Amino acid sequence: MVSLRILITGASGFLGGHVIAAVRAAGHVACTTARRSGEAAVDLTGPGMVDAVVQALRPDVVLHLAAMARLADCEREPARATAVNALVPQRFAERFGARLVSLSTDLVFDGRWAPYSALAPVAPLSAYGQSKAEGEERVRANGGRVVRLPLLFGPDAEGRGASAALRTAIERRQVSALFTNEYRTPLHAADAAAQLVALVVEPEGPLLLHLAGPERVSRYEFGLRFARRHGLDAKWLQPTECMDALRPRDVSLVAAWPAARDFEAMLADC
Ligand SMILES: NC(=O)c1ccc[n+]([C@@H]2O[C@H](COP(=O)([O-])OP(=O)(O)OC[C@H]3O[C@@H](n4cnc5c(N)ncnc54)[C@H](OP(=O)(O)O)[C@@H]3O)[C@@H](O)[C@H]2O)c1
Repeated sequence: MVSLRILITGASGFLGGHVIAAVRAAGHVACTTARRSGEAAVDLTGPGMVDAVVQALRPDVVLHLAAMARLADCEREPARATAVNALVPQRFAERFGARLVSLSTDLVFDGRWAPYSALAPVAPLSAYGQSKAEGEERVRANGGRVVRLPLLFGPDAEGRGASAALRTAIERRQVSALFTNEYRTPLHAADAAAQLVALVVEPEGPLLLHLAGPERVSRYEFGLRFARRHGLDAKWLQPTECMDALRPRDVSLVAAWPAARDFEAMLADC
């Protein structure tokens, strides 16, 4: 097997750690960049910064994870969201074409027509979803590939991701309000990472696809099942109805492939 140099942008993020591990497990070399850490610590929105990182790290292929990923930040600064989530991936696509896999989100959909196949038209409700949808378009127009992800969970030393954040809150005896009317197809970040690495090393692969977990669950059901699996006290989980117009109610994805393990096995591995 040929060992490739795989550039991981957003390497310091929640998914980044899982992707670095998956790249190494598959026998490739992880080249890392993030805004404040990594082999190249740069703000990729700066003039010439994408080219400078490529020049410095000389990757064969790119897994583009870096994003402005918080809904509230994107609503507050939509122009910045466009710069980070649309213009930066466009520049990578211009340079790498199909050797780029750029990540997007189930939040490009409005939640009225689930489950969503990769062919479904996008209709974002939020500035985050809008900026990611624009990024998808710009990447694909330049021959790059796009993978949409659902809500991710899994272990994280910094308490990020859907399950680690819940564990921290329950252990601190803090109430978590969890939506009973927001449905997604959550996926373990390690499973997502392994599939992303398999995809990026095969530039002949699909141009747009969905990765998704094996079950459609509400955020509240997710919390209950996670707590039960780990013997955590579910009294700290408060069922709540989502009234936020920016949050789609059901963005379940139809996955390109069946998940590698069942949902309970993923929950146990957190
Ligand atoms: N987590 C999920 O549930 C989920 C679901 C669907 C899709 N996704 C997508 O998956 C990808 C990874 O998500 P994540 O949860 O790992 O995100 P995250 O934890 O918020 O990490 C974001 C990463 O992007 C970097 N970054 C942000 N702005 C940057 C800039 N201007 N220049 C360079 N680097 C920048 C950050 O670096 P610093 O830390 O140094 O600022 C960090 O490494 C994103 O594209 C996200 O949209 C995630």
